[in-house]
Amino acid sequence: MPYFSQSVQHIRSSEIRDLMKLATRPDVISFAGGMPNNDLFPIKEVDEIMQNLPAALKKTAFQYGPTAGYPPLIKSLKKYLKQKGLPVDTHRLMITTGSLQAINILGMEFIDPGDLVLTENPSFIGGIAVFKAFQAKLTGVPLQNDGIDLQVLQKIIQSEKPKMLYVIPNFHNPGGVIYSLQKRKALLDLLSGSGILLLEDDAYNELYFSAKAKKQTKPIMSLDTTDVEVVYTGSFSKILGPGFRLGWLLAPPSIYEKAQIIKQGIDACSPNFTQVIANEFMRQGYLSNYLDKIRIAYKQRRDQMAEALEKYMPKDVLWQKPEGGFYFWLKLPQNLDSTAILKDSIKKGAVFVTGKTFDPNGRQNNHMRLAFSNMQLNEIEPGIKIIADAIKSHMLVNS
Ligand SMILES: Cc1ncc(COP(=O)(O)O)c(C=O)c1O
Repeated sequence: MPYFSQSVQHIRSSEIRDLMKLATRPDVISFAGGMPNNDLFPIKEVDEIMQNLPAALKKTAFQYGPTAGYPPLIKSLKKYLKQKGLPVDTHRLMITTGSLQAINILGMEFIDPGDLVLTENPSFIGGIAVFKAFQAKLTGVPLQNDGIDLQVLQKIIQSEKPKMLYVIPNFHNPGGVIYSLQKRKALLDLLSGSGILLLEDDAYNELYFSAKAKKQTKPIMSLDTTDVEVVYTGSFSKILGPGFRLGWLLAPPSIYEKAQIIKQGIDACSPNFTQVIANEFMRQGYLSNYLDKIRIAYKQRRDQMAEALEKYMPKDVLWQKPEGGFYFWLKLPQNLDSTAILKDSIKKGAVFVTGKTFDPNGRQNNHMRLAFSNMQLNEIEPGIKIIADAIKSHMLVNS
């Protein structure tokens, strides 16, 4: 048997993954999947695009393309990102195979074994997995209701030398929060001149539920980033479909150049097939109507979930109503263990994801993530009741 590499030696099947296998019964109500709703995909729109696609474009779709991306898609995307105030003229834009690949590329570009990478705590499990694969030392900085805890961050920066800070400012996964504008600016001030790379993951930018929340979604990279190196990533997964496997990376030219060479060695190019369709989806104006539709549908699920939580959860369970995105992040009393609650809850017919899954160091477990995105409206109330009952029974045992 050949030796495994150092980077995969520590990889194990997680307890949660094993538990989730139990949850595949068709009668189980799932709040676990952090994915778009199957019934909301723009199937009709994509059918129309396919039917009217000129033969020359169909041929292009079957072919390899440039590593940096299908040029017409880059053009459409630049126009779209420019409207968000992003510096598409001074920076370079690359299409990636999902935004997770963008994070991977940046991991390969910047992380040596033992380098300190900071994330929010909690943070996106995919990002954590990438940083671990590159053998980073991970430290989680607490996430507050308006963004990362800057006091804790400042202390870490004063005493250690982090290489990178990874943040999800809009409709955080799993935290559900959105950074205030004030915190976005203060974060840039704090990082200015520090040499720490700021990786801004904006996968949920478009999924706001109110005009007020929309105003707040202004990317950090669109603010005054003097003396801060920022790389911005985004995704088609939440605004078209994860099956397209398309994301992007916007970076200063020097970072982009190496990123492109790294991508060449990974997959040469992202699927031209889906890039052609995604471009037509944007170019022919389907995107904006589709976004209006899904914002309404997700807001409706958010509202129902908020109502059910108010109705069934004991008063010691705390949460903030998300202003967009897919997730509620519930805080349980300190002495409760969400894995134990999950075991009971699965037996009774509902699943969620446990808190420690999102802790970069896998410890804190008195939280749970409930996704409202991929479920039927009529499942929300009975599912929340099951989880609330499981929490209540654990509160009794632990009191
Ligand atoms: C915060 C965050 N970033 C990135 C991704 C990955 O998205 P993609 O499908 O573009 O790789 C996800 C997916 O859930 C996410 O929640």
